[in-house]
Amino acid sequence: MTTLAYDPADPTVRRNPFPLYAQLQDDDPVHWSPSLRAWVLTRYGDVRQMMLSDAMSPDRLRPFYAQLQGERRDTLVEVMRYMSLWMVFRDPPEHTRLRRLVGTVFNLKALEALDGAVTRVVDHLLDQLPTGVPVDWAQQVAAPLPAYVIMDMLAIPYSAFPELKEASDELRAFIGGARADGDRYARARSGAERLAAFFRRLIAERRAAPGEDFVSRMIAARDDEGRLSEDELVATCMLVLFAGHETTTHLLGNAVHALLDHPAQLQRLRDDPALIESAVEEFLRYDGPSNAIARVVKLDHQIDGRQLRAGDRVFGFANAANRDPRMFTDPQALDIGRTPNRHLTFGFGLHFCMGAPLARLEGQRCIGRLVQRFARIERVAGPAGEPEWIDALAMRGVSRLPIQLG
Ligand code: HEM
Repeated sequence: MTTLAYDPADPTVRRNPFPLYAQLQDDDPVHWSPSLRAWVLTRYGDVRQMMLSDAMSPDRLRPFYAQLQGERRDTLVEVMRYMSLWMVFRDPPEHTRLRRLVGTVFNLKALEALDGAVTRVVDHLLDQLPTGVPVDWAQQVAAPLPAYVIMDMLAIPYSAFPELKEASDELRAFIGGARADGDRYARARSGAERLAAFFRRLIAERRAAPGEDFVSRMIAARDDEGRLSEDELVATCMLVLFAGHETTTHLLGNAVHALLDHPAQLQRLRDDPALIESAVEEFLRYDGPSNAIARVVKLDHQIDGRQLRAGDRVFGFANAANRDPRMFTDPQALDIGRTPNRHLTFGFGLHFCMGAPLARLEGQRCIGRLVQRFARIERVAGPAGEPEWIDALAMRGVSRLPIQLG
């Protein structure tokens, strides 16, 4: 049996986790990882079932909070106040109500209407890229693009970006941080308080003077059971900022990284721009941003003969499932025309990503225009051209990707 030493900080695994995933799929598909103190699922069928199963819950926050004591518990009161209202951590019936209300605003039509804004942001960022010298795709395009799009969506001026970024980085230390870090709870509290104050002010302004933006529409949204409460509105703004930003950044970074490794596929996309929709699905599958999706076991049950007990943590590795040969033909190959392509990068079932149409649009416009605009898209040679992969379990992406355009 494999001994998985899955350490996202290990540079070899960070650069290329896929051989390890394939090994687990074959040798130990329902793997207990002592270092993560969690189950690791890597087969497509198991990861998808994890997201469908009533025996699993996405609510890993409240059990964690319940066992904290003393000062730590007090420090996290404000964080929990909002994050416990994020639909992504809730089971029905609370999830159903939140999703229904937010869904009246986050529908396909409203998200597709952002096309003009997305294209403007893409062109603005691509205009600023010089040719013939190294540029950092990750920092200069992939990171700001989704942030600006969300700010357009919520009608927040771009000048607020540094403030929001700083506060959300503080809060992220709590959500994404895999390792023990002394003051991360205090930082998370500061981040939650700053974000909540920002959105509370914004909501008050929109109540006084409603517009066409998503915040105004969420304030107005109602169903038979009422409206979103003030705290739910604040929490949902925070969730959208979080869920829609870094994930999309890593789609854009990983997509360019994959194309640089596959010049024939890059040429294919140049020759046939209509392939952009299937190409983006393939980028999401081949090396997507959702590395692992987390759940907690609600009811004792077995998977492939292994006993899971209530309270156990489970990680469904979407990036492993997306290359499972039991599901995909030639899964290790990048094929921008692949169809069908039922990847799990946006999740599956009740919590399927609400922002998927927007993320797809951003990917299609950004990569589509990059490829059409520049005749040469190349890696920077030598060590200066090495990408830097982020150190995270839930997400996979580059924080630095030097390229040269011409
Ligand atoms: C490539 C970009 C993106 C990826 C890979 C992604 C991935 C995911 C995944 C895997 C889930 C399900 C999590 C789970 O089951 O535990 C999810 C949920 C969600 N995503 Fe995304 N996401 C992306 C972009 C966005 C954007 C742009 C937005 C909004 C602007 C967004 C909003 C949400 C929301 C609100 C949920 C919660 C849905 C629910 O719990 O019912 N996402 N996303």
